[in-house]
Amino acid sequence: MANYTLQINGTSQQVEVDPNTPLLWVLRDHLQLVGTKFGCGIAQCGACTIHLNGNAVRSCQLPISAVEEASITTIEGLSEEGDHPVQKAWVEHDVPQCGYCQAGQIMTAAALLQQNPNPSDADIENAMNGNICRCGTYLRIRAAVKTASQNL
Ligand code: FES
Ligand code: FES
Repeated sequence: MANYTLQINGTSQQVEVDPNTPLLWVLRDHLQLVGTKFGCGIAQCGACTIHLNGNAVRSCQLPISAVEEASITTIEGLSEEGDHPVQKAWVEHDVPQCGYCQAGQIMTAAALLQQNPNPSDADIENAMNGNICRCGTYLRIRAAVKTASQNL
């Protein structure tokens, strides 16, 4: 076990965990930030996507020992009122079906637009194609990313 002070959603959080513990478990089991989902656990689906220093990363394969100094943002911290342009576009396009993948989708889309505010269709495809949706909401996701890019 080791003590870590993490910068999450603009606040400092202390946890005592094994250094190999994936960040996803720390978020969900120690900090009750359960908006970030467990899907595959092997970095293949994107359900666990969070921002690490502004980049979209998969928290299920990221040991806590590798993130101590980084700034972490989860879906809970993306915006105070749930009104990030990506979240508003998701509502406008009624994107989610079961919803399970959507926190990861939104975090991936938000990181894309942070780095590329005017993405082409190909840019959106490239950024989003690693996020799996078993409900097949892909067309609405792509339309919502376009709308969000126009409302930044
Ligand atoms: S749960 Fe992390 S990529 Fe699937
Ligand atoms: S909305 Fe159900 S898995 Fe994507």
